[in-house]
Amino acid sequence: MRGYDEKTIGEVKNKNDIVSVISSYMQLEQRGSNFWGRCPFHQEKTPSFCVNGAEQFYYCFGCHKSGDVISFVMEIEGLDFADAVKFLAQKAGIKLPERSENDENIRRAKEKKEKLYAILKDTALFYVNNLKSEGAEKFLDYLGKRGVDAKTVRKFGLGASLDFNALPAYLKRKGYTEEETTEAGVTGVKNGRCYDALGGRLIIPVINQMNQVVAFCGRILEDKGFAKYVNTRETAVFSKGNTLFNINNLKKLKNEVGIKNVVMVEGHMDVISLVAAGFENVVASMGTALTKDQARLLKRYTDTVLISYDGDFAGQKASLRGLEILKDEGLNVKVVTLPDGMDPDDVVKKQGKDAYAALLTAAKPLIDFKLDVLKKTYDIEDVEGKRVFVREAVKVVRESPSAAEQEDLLKEIRKMTGITYESLKRELDSSEKGAAPPKTEMRPAEAKEKNLQAERYVLSSLLFSKKYAEGFDLDKLRFENPVHAAVAEYILECRKESKQPRPNVLYDIVDESGKEELSALLALELGEKRDFDEARYFKDCVNTLLRRAAEKEIDSLTKLCDAEEDVAKRKELTRRLMEKIADLNRL
Ligand code: UTP
Ligand code: MN
Repeated sequence: MRGYDEKTIGEVKNKNDIVSVISSYMQLEQRGSNFWGRCPFHQEKTPSFCVNGAEQFYYCFGCHKSGDVISFVMEIEGLDFADAVKFLAQKAGIKLPERSENDENIRRAKEKKEKLYAILKDTALFYVNNLKSEGAEKFLDYLGKRGVDAKTVRKFGLGASLDFNALPAYLKRKGYTEEETTEAGVTGVKNGRCYDALGGRLIIPVINQMNQVVAFCGRILEDKGFAKYVNTRETAVFSKGNTLFNINNLKKLKNEVGIKNVVMVEGHMDVISLVAAGFENVVASMGTALTKDQARLLKRYTDTVLISYDGDFAGQKASLRGLEILKDEGLNVKVVTLPDGMDPDDVVKKQGKDAYAALLTAAKPLIDFKLDVLKKTYDIEDVEGKRVFVREAVKVVRESPSAAEQEDLLKEIRKMTGITYESLKRELDSSEKGAAPPKTEMRPAEAKEKNLQAERYVLSSLLFSKKYAEGFDLDKLRFENPVHAAVAEYILECRKESKQPRPNVLYDIVDESGKEELSALLALELGEKRDFDEARYFKDCVNTLLRRAAEKEIDSLTKLCDAEEDVAKRKELTRRLMEKIADLNRL
């Protein structure tokens, strides 16, 4: 039970009413039986954060975060589960028992992790000491050439691996087995020989927010032949996707002096160089695509991220998805533009820290950056290129929730393209109409027709064996129209017998009353040539149907929940309800 038994956790929850705990962080207003406020986890103007006092959970209709009083405290205070329990226990004057670790498996897993942390720490010390020993000259030279001073070396715990054998021998003397050190990722075994996984490299330890060494990054001194950087492989305590390099120092900085924002860079050396130059609020994503976990981790420390990736266009474009992930977690994202071919380290070295500070100040909102990317992607001197650019650019403008900002952006596009403001505005309005209206605004008849269409299109694609529908798992969907249900059944039967479905057989299966609908379905394939992206439309249809199914389930769960008298059962239903809502939001 993550360190505490169920009873203790229950008591902590009982004595910390979620409404009063949350009220101490933000203003809540009672409406009906629930409390509403502006969500503390994402920026919003109108309240969509809802606290249910009866069931002791919260749910934000904007960013879809939800949880109980413990997860609220974890999120807002940036604590892990056990510390959040402690925090709440203290608040309510509950004396916590020693953590009950009766569960043997948990205990063993924990012991193992602790062993790995110990190995990693010993390894880190070993590497640090190497830098002071004979044979370290070329590493010190290298650091000197890159302008990394002694203070910075200490701050980051930089070290060196002098060869492939010394580390395994050292760890063996410390009493660790080869199996253990390999499990920690610091050694590998080849042809029965145990070797240092980062042998011969300059060592940068990766330290988590709890100040534990979780991995290493090793840089080769000469830029040729081998990979420039090698990272410790994923282990029980390290996953690249949920760690950020320098998060330990960032946490300290936040606690000691506070931070306004966080600069995110690509490389470890960029962090080291920026910190040395006085920009301390920096983390690195360590060269991979950003993940949701990293975004959440970052969200604990800041609301605003300045992305300062290398100044090459391909890289910047590739990072767009990562930026969306940050935005989706409620972070305010700005993009720093670096001179072509330079990374932050280069800028500080070649142009000085004031130049870099100026670039940070000039960081652009994500939306402006997207327009820049589009502009570089399409050739607006070309008629067709310009047309596509405008279409895509207007889509970007639509993402802005503010009419004033939309206006500014349209003016920008006008400047870029010479197209009049009026026609851009018209394009904006028409694309707004073309988009699917939010589900609450769809009239029931419209929704019904849309669902019917979706069922038809999905079945027709399967029936006529469209390439994009190949291998689609039909069992995932329920078809409400009886004719469609019969068609689906026929397709499944054909699949079982590994034969192609034959549309005309359907006239024998469907009875007289269903002929009209069957014709409508088959006619989809008969109409004029399609000039839209069929694969994409197919996916949209599937999503429409999945969404409908989820909505139905949510409806019936809500009813069940309301009718249920038993508190425990109602809790369980609420939990399932929350899961379904989360599922729905993922669609
Ligand atoms: P870069 O290639 O941009 O290196 O990789 P850099 O940070 O400028 O390094 P220096 O200045 O040449 O020393 C950025 C990040 O990508 C990952 C590392 O995390 C690195 O910090 N990377 C890069 C690897 O994992 N392996 C590689 O071979 C190269
Ligand atoms: Mn570099």
